[in-house]
Amino acid sequence: MAAEPVNVTEFQELAKQALPKMFYDFYSGGAEDQYTLRKNIEAFSRIMFQPRVLVDVSCINLSTTILGYKISSPIMVAPTAMHKFAHPEGEIATARAAAACKTIMVLSFRSTCTVEEVASSCNAIRFFQLYVYRRRDISALLVQRAERCGYKAIVLTADCPRTGRREADIKNKMISPQLKNFEGLLSAEVVSEKGSKLAAFANGAFDPSLSWKDIAWLKSITNLPILIKGVLTAENAVKAVEVGVAGIIVSNHGGRQLDYVPATISVLEEVVQAVGGRIPVLFDGGIRRGTDVFKALALGAQAVLIGRPVIFGLAAKGEYGVRRVIEMLRDELELTMTLCGCRSVKEITRSYVRTERDSL
Ligand code: FNR
Repeated sequence: MAAEPVNVTEFQELAKQALPKMFYDFYSGGAEDQYTLRKNIEAFSRIMFQPRVLVDVSCINLSTTILGYKISSPIMVAPTAMHKFAHPEGEIATARAAAACKTIMVLSFRSTCTVEEVASSCNAIRFFQLYVYRRRDISALLVQRAERCGYKAIVLTADCPRTGRREADIKNKMISPQLKNFEGLLSAEVVSEKGSKLAAFANGAFDPSLSWKDIAWLKSITNLPILIKGVLTAENAVKAVEVGVAGIIVSNHGGRQLDYVPATISVLEEVVQAVGGRIPVLFDGGIRRGTDVFKALALGAQAVLIGRPVIFGLAAKGEYGVRRVIEMLRDELELTMTLCGCRSVKEITRSYVRTERDSL
């Protein structure tokens, strides 16, 4: 019986031991030089706290509300592909853990369980992440199936007109027999024989012509609120407000798409300022500690999403592992709030952190 991990990094170690190299590389890796992947994590260490003392912190409330849904803490599950490579129960285990933690799970378009299976397996609040394929009918059908079985929002991932170049996947020829049957989409004919077969499939599938005007198309096929994931600039944040989406997610896809984009935490504040409170701004990228969650909230995020930590929990210990990862981050956040003198998520404001920019 492996020792009980005490933090996300220890879960990552266990996941590495548990997984075949090909899958561990797929989950943990990033694009090209992996510079952005590293920066996403490192950039948090340049933000320091400005705690207040002698505050009555005998009662700390972590709960918050996202698009009208109350969750127990501002830590949500990011959409990540193919959980069955990590654990035989796949996304069902992840969704059950999200439900136990009373938080929102965003199910990936590239899920290895169907939207219906995940919906019927637990009562988690679920959003559905969308990739728009050249075959728009495939994407539209999945949106409609998700809507029918109770998903509460569509998260349109906008930073993926092509898959980023992930060199470990190319070397490992990342492919599984399971992929061939996944939703009937990944069939042997569309999979290239050269390089990373996964990337080759995805590049054929994504619609690179997708643009801002297609938000109107998406609105025409669903009544659900739409969030745009992958915003990194003030300019695009303003555009998102203009096209009338319900929220944005500041994200660089965990450093898996365009390498050398900034760490998400370093662009969060300018995006928040551009949005000016008109729609919620969520955040992901590099969250490994409760202190990171606090920093993102202080810089204006309403909540954060965690990608790899969830997969590491899943690979190491299944549903229990995912639950522990979310609980650990939640406990660390609670401690950070206590030591900073913030009693509720609302009280976490910009004045509790200093960035390098503040010291110039
Ligand atoms: C992802 N991400 C992702 N995003 C998305 O919109 N659809 C997807 O299918 C996937 N798949 C996926 C697989 C794997 C293995 C990873 C690591 C990431 C990106 C994900 O939603 C999120 O933006 C990042 O994972 C956040 O960074 P951290 O928390 O992993 O550092």
